[in-house]
Amino acid sequence: MKEDQLFKSAFNHSSIGMALVSPNGKWLDVNPALGRILGYDRDELLTGDFQNITHPEDLARDLAYISECLAGKRDSYELEKRYYHKDGDIIWTLLTVSLIRENGTPSFFISQIQDITENKNNQHALIQATKLAALGEIAGTIAHEVNNPLTIISGQASLLRRDLMKRGISDQGPFNQITKINDTIKRISSIIQSMKNLSRDGSNEKTQPCRLQDIIQENMALCNQQLKNDKIEVVLDIDENIYIEARPIDIGQSLINLIVNARHAMKNESKKVLTIKAKSQNGMAKLYVTDTGHGVPENLINKIMDPFFTTKPKHEGTGMGLSITRKLLTKMNAQLKYIHSLDKTTTFCIEVPLAYNKAVKTA
Ligand SMILES: Nc1ncnc2c1ncn2[C@@H]1O[C@H](COP(=O)(O)OP(=O)(O)O)[C@@H](O)[C@H]1O
Ligand SMILES: [Mg+2]
Repeated sequence: MKEDQLFKSAFNHSSIGMALVSPNGKWLDVNPALGRILGYDRDELLTGDFQNITHPEDLARDLAYISECLAGKRDSYELEKRYYHKDGDIIWTLLTVSLIRENGTPSFFISQIQDITENKNNQHALIQATKLAALGEIAGTIAHEVNNPLTIISGQASLLRRDLMKRGISDQGPFNQITKINDTIKRISSIIQSMKNLSRDGSNEKTQPCRLQDIIQENMALCNQQLKNDKIEVVLDIDENIYIEARPIDIGQSLINLIVNARHAMKNESKKVLTIKAKSQNGMAKLYVTDTGHGVPENLINKIMDPFFTTKPKHEGTGMGLSITRKLLTKMNAQLKYIHSLDKTTTFCIEVPLAYNKAVKTA
C-alpha cells in the first residue's frame, strides 16, 4: 500500500475520531468515528467549522492554542474540551492536535478526538458520592455527640422538678421554666433525629408495598401549617389507587425536601400555588411537585442536584436537599427528575416503581 492509502485506511477505520482541519477551523475531512461521536454525517460536518459545535466555555482556550501553533510557538497541543452533539447533549472529549507545515507554512491540523464523556460523568458521580458520604459521617457524629449531653440535661431537669415538688414549692415560675427546658430538649431531639435519618444508610432496609396517597397525606400534614403561614394555595391531584414498592420514610423525606424548596421559591411571588399530582404510567408511579416560584435559570439546571450547590444565602440553604433526595431515591430504584416546563412553573418529579402482585396493607 502506498503511504497515502495507508493513512486513508487508518483514518477511516480508527475508533478514535479524527479530522483534518484548515488553519481557519474548517473541517477538511472527518472520519466515520468522529461522525458517530458528534452525531453528524460527514457532509454536515464538512459544511461547518469546529467553532460552531464547541462549547462556548472551551472555545477560547482551543483558539489560543491554535494561534500559538500558527505563530510557531508550539507544534501540537492536548486539551479536554466539550462539543455539542447534534441532539444537544454535551460530549466531553480529549483532543490532541498537531499542525502540519509544508515548506514552513501552516498547511492543516490533524486532530484526534476521543470521547471521554462516560469517564467524566463517573468522575463527577464519584466526587458527589464522596462528599455525601463525608457529610453523612459528620452528621452521625454530631448527632451522637449532642445526644449524650442532652440526656444529661433532660435527666437533671426531671430531678429539679422532683426536688421542687418535694420541697413543696407552689410557685409556678420554676415549673414553667422547666417546661421550657423540656420543650427545647424535644426540639433539639427532633433535629438530631432528622440528622440521624440523614446519615443512616437505609439501603439495607427492605422496600415494601405502600399506598402513595397515604405517604403524601402523612407528610402534607407536617407541611400544611407552614404552607398556610406563607399563604400558599395547595392543589392536590392524587390517583388514590397507586401502590408503590419503596421505603415510605424516604419517599416522605423526598417529598418534604421538594415542598421546602417550592415554598422558598415562591416567597416573593404574588401567585403562590403548590400542585402535587400523582399518577401511574409505564409501570412507574410519578409524583409531581409543581410551584409558581422564580424558576430555575437555564444555565443552573445541570447543577442544582450537585451536593452543596445552592443559590440561597448561607443561613437559608445548604445545597444538600436535592442531592440527598436523589441519593435516597436511587437506592430504591426510584429517580428524581427536573421537568422542563413551557409555562413559568417549576416541576420536579419523583418516579418510583409500582408494587406488583403483593398484598398491600392500607393504613
Ligand atoms: N422549586 C424550585 N424552584 C426554583 N429553584 C429551585 C427549586 N428547587 C431547587 N431549586 C434550586 O436548586 C438549588 C439547590 O436546592 P437544594 O439542593 O434543595 O439546596 P438548598 O435548598 O439548600 O439551596 C436551590 O438553591 C435553588 O437554586
Ligand atoms: Mg432545599
